Amino acid sequence: LVTSICTVRSIKLDVSGEAIASQLLHLATFTDDPNPAVTRIVFTENDLLARGYVKELMTAAGLTVREDPMGNIFGRWEGTDPNAGAVVSGSHADAIPLAGAYDGTLGVIGPIAAVAALRRAGYRPRAPIDVLMFTSEEPTRFGLGCIGSRGMAGELTAALLDEKLDVNGTSFKEASTAAGYGGSSHQEILDGTLIAKGGVAAFVELHIEQGPLLEAEGTQLGIVTAIAAPAALRVFFSGDGGHAGALLMPNRNDAGLAAAEVALAVEASVLETGAIDAVGTTGLFEIGPNTVNSVPREAKLEIDIRDIDATRRDAIVASVLQTVEEVAARRKVRHRVEMINQDAPATCSNQVIQAATEAAQELGASHKQMVSRAYHDSLFMARFAPTGMIFIPCRNGWSHRPDEFATPEDIERGVKALALTLAKLAGS
Ligand code: GLV
Ligand code: MN
Ligand code: MN
Ligand code: MN
Repeated sequence: LVTSICTVRSIKLDVSGEAIASQLLHLATFTDDPNPAVTRIVFTENDLLARGYVKELMTAAGLTVREDPMGNIFGRWEGTDPNAGAVVSGSHADAIPLAGAYDGTLGVIGPIAAVAALRRAGYRPRAPIDVLMFTSEEPTRFGLGCIGSRGMAGELTAALLDEKLDVNGTSFKEASTAAGYGGSSHQEILDGTLIAKGGVAAFVELHIEQGPLLEAEGTQLGIVTAIAAPAALRVFFSGDGGHAGALLMPNRNDAGLAAAEVALAVEASVLETGAIDAVGTTGLFEIGPNTVNSVPREAKLEIDIRDIDATRRDAIVASVLQTVEEVAARRKVRHRVEMINQDAPATCSNQVIQAATEAAQELGASHKQMVSRAYHDSLFMARFAPTGMIFIPCRNGWSHRPDEFATPEDIERGVKALALTLAKLAGS
């Protein structure tokens, strides 16, 4: 590492934050909702258009494009050592409904710009450098996030490729096949996506912070040390419903009220821990028939619970599950629970943290270590490769909303820090 640091110290990077910002805004035009909102659901027409644009940018930067059977896109810059594992940087371009232009996309277009700047500076990597765009980091379509990186880490099963259905009942396998990916068998899809041991020497993801700390403190870069562990569950209640006027209160088993109690219990269980790092959200709440003069007969909740401490997170999940049982019994409603995921937290690699720290120092950028409360594909890359993340500030900490914004100056600094980090990791 020490020798490569000396070599990269002389790299003069020419990066235009304005140019990258305009590419991000062009990518944002591939959306199901009008800009500034961005809605881009995996394997829809706009996602395929966005993929096309990303591949164009990769090709223009001299990268060799490869796509795996799950639709993860790699752009490779060959290194001088054919036996070295790749140094990889990437993120996602899918966007939840009514999101913004920077979440994920910065980590796809940013490394393309970083690699182009390194090439212009005359640097040649020893290890190959891959820019990577992951499939379906967001859970919007199939209910499960980080599908592409889970596949790379070997955390998917053949059954899941069929079981993960969208609202129309289309499976992940069907949707990816319709998008031109897939394979002749489930095993071929899984095997073709799995990263071989040693295949990735290091992974680093550039992302907007999605929180307010960097901006509030005036710190230019965040260097991530750990990624919080998300758990997600789906709860269904069903009662008998009935006429809102004729059915007397003692005779009701209102599924909507059972769900409401659980949503409040999620908040209470989290607050009871007293831990600032524990968070819980009931982000999806549906009742049926959802009409004013009918007692709710059906209710469906999706609950997201996270913490950097997996044991404390699991205790919150257990407490919510107990509330579901208790409420169902008391209100005499039927219930069913599906655990969607209950992932372990990730610790970032000291090697990547050190490389990013040195990069920040060389740029004269203020920086701090922090945890990521959002999850990212880095969570799954960390399962099999030394992994780290670099955060840049975003306006007011806003993310997952149309007014999400990062300044061209912050983008430029983040991309330069990423470029130097990649060069340190890939060596020369
Ligand atoms: C990623 O979008 C997350 O929900 O943390
Ligand atoms: Mn997101
Ligand atoms: Mn993201
Ligand atoms: Mn996400």
